[in-house]
Amino acid sequence: MKPVKIGILGLGTVGGGTVNVLQRNADVVRGRAGRDVIITRASAQNLTRSRICDTQGIQLTTDPFEVVNDPDIDIILELMGGLSPAKELVLQAIANGKHVITANKALIALHGNEIFKKASERGVMVAFEAAVAGGVPIIKAIREGLSGNQIEWLAGIINGTGNFILTEMRDKGRDFNDVLAEAQALGYAEADPTFDVEGIDAGHKLTILASIAFGIPLQFDKVYTEGITQITRDDVAYAEELGYRIKHLGIARKTPQGIELRVHPALIPERRLIANVDGVKNAVLVYGDAVGPTLYYGAGAGAEPTASAVVADVVDVVRALTSDPENRVPHLAFQPDAIVEQLVLTSEQFTTAYYLRLTAEDKPGVLAEVTKILALHQISIEAIIQKEPQPNKTTLPVIMLTQKTLEKEMNAAIAEIEALSSITGKVNRIRLETLG
Ligand code: NDP
Ligand code: HSE
Repeated sequence: MKPVKIGILGLGTVGGGTVNVLQRNADVVRGRAGRDVIITRASAQNLTRSRICDTQGIQLTTDPFEVVNDPDIDIILELMGGLSPAKELVLQAIANGKHVITANKALIALHGNEIFKKASERGVMVAFEAAVAGGVPIIKAIREGLSGNQIEWLAGIINGTGNFILTEMRDKGRDFNDVLAEAQALGYAEADPTFDVEGIDAGHKLTILASIAFGIPLQFDKVYTEGITQITRDDVAYAEELGYRIKHLGIARKTPQGIELRVHPALIPERRLIANVDGVKNAVLVYGDAVGPTLYYGAGAGAEPTASAVVADVVDVVRALTSDPENRVPHLAFQPDAIVEQLVLTSEQFTTAYYLRLTAEDKPGVLAEVTKILALHQISIEAIIQKEPQPNKTTLPVIMLTQKTLEKEMNAAIAEIEALSSITGKVNRIRLETLG
């Protein structure tokens, strides 16, 4: 059979890693896909830049549209990132009848509904395993392996850079910005690293996971996002004292009231496997009604781990080249007419437990004032620690864990606590998830 010809847009961390893996593992790829797969063309912005891969034998250009419009190419790998011109290139590739593989979660989260519609109309595949959790085959697991289940909830550490930063800060006491710079040098971070540390990248990934888990359209605008920049070393230490780890989680949960889509730091009991996922590793815990909890773990970013997912998509697409489009696995796990809108809750409607840290005056009656406010909002306290006042200070830190409560009640209670004359500054709140 004729070899399958690949065109690659982008030769950076992921593109370079993909070239290396496709070249090194050409035999296993042929063995699994049933055909030779060869890279014929690739594009990058700067053709003189040194690369992590050998581009000999690949025709290079600075114009990605040349690759997309090459009639000899069967599959386009979009590994450039960003929304434009990535979106125009993907749509052009689809219009040209080419299959597309992308690692671009921002593109899928924001424009996936349109892209998949166009792809279905044209009868081509758009695969995106690398878009979530790097090398962890979580898309395939949910879309195929768990297709007999009603997914009730999922929770994941889905940003490698953020997890790397939190781990290094906790284990080595390193400075936030130093660790972020290292993550950038290692190729883990997004072109704009605020996407990593402010929860936007995790929000893109959660959008995709929620869609394939629940059969809802991609709707990034309904995801609540909070990053890791407000986490202090004190919070990490107090959480550990109470038997918890702080992790940055993406959570999608079905509740009787609607769906929660949220990305934020959370305390997790340290005995949970997912609480021990460190460094650039990602993990996604998925709860299906039939199977119960399942956990998927591995490298969440980096050249070859991400290439592993891209190449797996290459093999899948090549295997399905001769199948009828209607007999292929649907892009978003559910057939397009089975994807239905469901109510997505606002953050005030979330129900979670909380860690609260407040700075209180060291005098009698202060804690009673605070607990009275919590009680008036029907918030039960699970644990409380009052630390020693720091030298020369008349205030002391108070740490509380609460039971589950409606976020609206917690917001109101925090506003009242912050207004107390005996409380200094802001109440630092972190949600707490038992993931049981
Ligand atoms: P890089 O910045 O390392 O690589 C981007 C590549 O695209 C570079 O080769 C760059 O060219 C090229 N490029 C960028 N813009 C243009 C343009 N306008 N025209 C032509 N070429 C362009 O990014 P990554 O490899 O890290 O990321 C690529 C995608 O993969 C992103 O969507 C990212 O979110 C996703 N991803 C990244 C992971 C990672 O670990 N890094 C993991 C999972 C997904 P040049 O080299 O000349 O500058
Ligand atoms: N910047 C992303 C991360 C890359 O750190 O997780 C993988 O999607």
